Amino acid sequence: MFLTKEEEKLLERNDGVSKCMEILVALGEIFGAERLIPIRHSHISGVSYQNIGDEGLEWLKGLNVSFAVKTTINPAGMDLDRWREMGIDESFAKKQMELLNIFKKMGAELTLTCTPYYIYMPSFGEHLAWSESSAVIYANSVLGARTNRESGISALASAVIGKTPLYGLHIKENRAPDILVKVESDFEPEILGYKIGSEIDGIPIFKFNRKLSDDELKALGAGLASTGNVAIFHVIEQTPEWDHFEIPSEKIVVDDLELEFDCDPDAVTLGCPHLSKNELVRIYDLVKRFDGKAKKTFWVFTSRSVYDEMREVVEFLESKNVRVFRDTCMVVSPATERFECVMTNSGKALTYLPKLRGVRVVYGTLEDCVRAAFSPH
Ligand code: F3S
Repeated sequence: MFLTKEEEKLLERNDGVSKCMEILVALGEIFGAERLIPIRHSHISGVSYQNIGDEGLEWLKGLNVSFAVKTTINPAGMDLDRWREMGIDESFAKKQMELLNIFKKMGAELTLTCTPYYIYMPSFGEHLAWSESSAVIYANSVLGARTNRESGISALASAVIGKTPLYGLHIKENRAPDILVKVESDFEPEILGYKIGSEIDGIPIFKFNRKLSDDELKALGAGLASTGNVAIFHVIEQTPEWDHFEIPSEKIVVDDLELEFDCDPDAVTLGCPHLSKNELVRIYDLVKRFDGKAKKTFWVFTSRSVYDEMREVVEFLESKNVRVFRDTCMVVSPATERFECVMTNSGKALTYLPKLRGVRVVYGTLEDCVRAAFSPH
């Protein structure tokens, strides 16, 4: 990979910056990148102490670097204010805060959300280095920005250097669809993504019978990226690059989705990815239909920024025994491990709750989830 004189000098420093350059150069060489390109924004995932552990914490401490571009970070393992209520113990909280302080010292904004695009919306064609598969697929597909599916470490390296290797989805022709997916019924997008992700190879372009909302596109992408190695999709007549390429001849038709979940939920969770303002309002409207309080543990997750803008909705939900947590989620927090079976509407949570938290899962639409919490029988 071609490096400028300045970039070569960074490699020779023998410090945290040179380590970050080494990571980017190694990545660029593996994927045949021509050179590095500047980015405007990095988003780093894997910041829960549950994921990083002591070894990661020590590595980060020793790095001693600062970020050269706007850098946001993914959810941590707890709500920073309400961790006791979540059942998080003191020692975990201490380690989590230590970790977040290292990121803060490096210059990260402690956004602690997987929906950084609600805070800072990248523009069409903008180059990013984002980890967090649900955010990557949203940025590429819905916003037309350009990012590969980075790991937490490569996104951090890019944040320090302010650049990323030019390969993959940074190059227009690599964003072309490979397979047309004709969707014949009105499936919930999250479950469609969850099922289709593992069944297709390459980039899908969907044909739906109706227009999807941004929240539905978000849910479709999160589901797709959780079960498949997908980082971009297109939707005919809807997403910004759908007509930049030929429609592929390979085609599948989806007219049936079989789901095989079966357990009796002791908790209900929503907000994977973190809830938008509209999604919080939808939950509020549904909860209003029920008298009394939630009868099952009902946890919902959103970002601090959405929470702060939706104070009245949050207060109402809290008064109905719906816990609205920020900074974390059901998947990255160890708090979820106490449950036997969790009901969720999220394709991503259906994939990762069993794998990472050892919890059984059952799918419900957003409406099913509210009903299950308020009127369980
Ligand atoms: Fe976000 Fe956690 Fe789901 S980080 S996408 S809410 S697994």
